[in-house]
Amino acid sequence: MSTAPSAEEQFDEKASQQLEAVYLTPDVIEQRERVMALLAPRAGEHALDIGCGPGLTTAGLAHAVGSSGSVLGIDIAQPMLAMAARRCASLPQVRFDRCDVNALSAADERFDVALASQVYEYVDDIDAALTELARVIRPGGRAVLVDTDWESAVWASSDETRMRRVLETWNEHIPHPQLPRTLKRRLEAAGFRHVQVAVVPLLNLVYDPATYSVGMMTLIGNFAAGRNGLSAADIAAWREDARHMGDRGEYFFSLNRYVFTAERA
Ligand SMILES: C[S@@+](CC[C@H](N)C(=O)[O-])C[C@H]1O[C@@H](n2cnc3c(N)ncnc32)[C@H](O)[C@@H]1O
Repeated sequence: MSTAPSAEEQFDEKASQQLEAVYLTPDVIEQRERVMALLAPRAGEHALDIGCGPGLTTAGLAHAVGSSGSVLGIDIAQPMLAMAARRCASLPQVRFDRCDVNALSAADERFDVALASQVYEYVDDIDAALTELARVIRPGGRAVLVDTDWESAVWASSDETRMRRVLETWNEHIPHPQLPRTLKRRLEAAGFRHVQVAVVPLLNLVYDPATYSVGMMTLIGNFAAGRNGLSAADIAAWREDARHMGDRGEYFFSLNRYVFTAERA
């Protein structure tokens, strides 16, 4: 078992709102569009949104499957479910359930498509969770999983040692910070085939609060302060440095999202 705080502990009201704000930046909107194109949900299909968070992906699925289809959004964090329910209130084809990815509240082979964006990296027993995912998708149905490897982060700083300490500490917020490296074989072992992997990079060349990286500094900083000898002052200096990099035209951030598409065998 990892020592990472549980998803319920991490996604309280405040953190859920902060994450929603980051996920509404143009960077993440574009990422969502690319992921949705890879899943290609069709009108009339039954879709599952695993770890639906603030419901942005759920709403996207609902528009794609239309009123003849259905979407079930599940999440473990109540504040996330509340936001998702508000966002999708006008979409009758959407339903939400509070449950864990290891015990999905759905019958066998219930869904045509499933999406899990930035979720399995939070799950201790991934292999059991992927077997549970395979259970609820019909044979021939599709799944798309998105996960990040923060070691793919390239983040310019005038204090490389501090930047490394912050990112190493951020790795501790989840039990599987390098999940993409093993996800293809895990999916195959769980009963999926034709697993393809695509990379969706995030790239920020200016310091702008309406970007993914600057938005994430709040969540990363809140997590890292007080851990591994990083003080609140260290985190403030880390943030200030990024701002100054921006003032000098030297801001640079890139990070890879790995998108796995798979078919239920
Ligand atoms: C980083 S957010 C991503 C939200 C959403 N998928 C998106 O891309 O907009 C991760 C979500 O996964 C949920 N989650 C993490 N572990 C979970 C588990 N074991 N069971 C259900 N939900 C979980 C969290 O509560 C959180 O809402």
